[in-house]
Amino acid sequence: MKISIGCDHGGISLKAEIVPLLQELGHVVDDKGCFATESVDYPDFAKVVCAQVQKGECERGILICGTGVGMSMVANRFEGIRAALCNELFTARMSREHNDANVLCMGARVVGPGLALEIARAWVSTDFAGGRHQRRIDMF
Ligand code: RB5
Repeated sequence: MKISIGCDHGGISLKAEIVPLLQELGHVVDDKGCFATESVDYPDFAKVVCAQVQKGECERGILICGTGVGMSMVANRFEGIRAALCNELFTARMSREHNDANVLCMGARVVGPGLALEIARAWVSTDFAGGRHQRRIDMF
């Protein structure tokens, strides 16, 4: 699938590890930056990635900042975006199975790269379970 990815300066090193993993898994990655370590503002990147998901240009989005908190706050203000802040594996799987999350947020200062790669791998490969979970999603 096509995945839009964005980060701020706090997430740039983790983004550099996640992009090749996604490509190895067969996904097309649209990297919306940032591309340097100078301080930037995470809402700028969250907006670009979420707009791509909203428009259907990308099926999913991944946003990385220092904690993942700022990115998830911005992303969830967008209609149709269901962003999940996942800094461990169980939540990553459940955010797909139960919440049909279409944006994954992670904190590069919270998780190490080994765990973050496993979170990303699980999140992109877990299907939504539908059924009662769809009914609940339809309620918001
Ligand atoms: C940047 O220093 C930091 O505030 C940002 O990456 C993120 O953690 C915000 O939620």
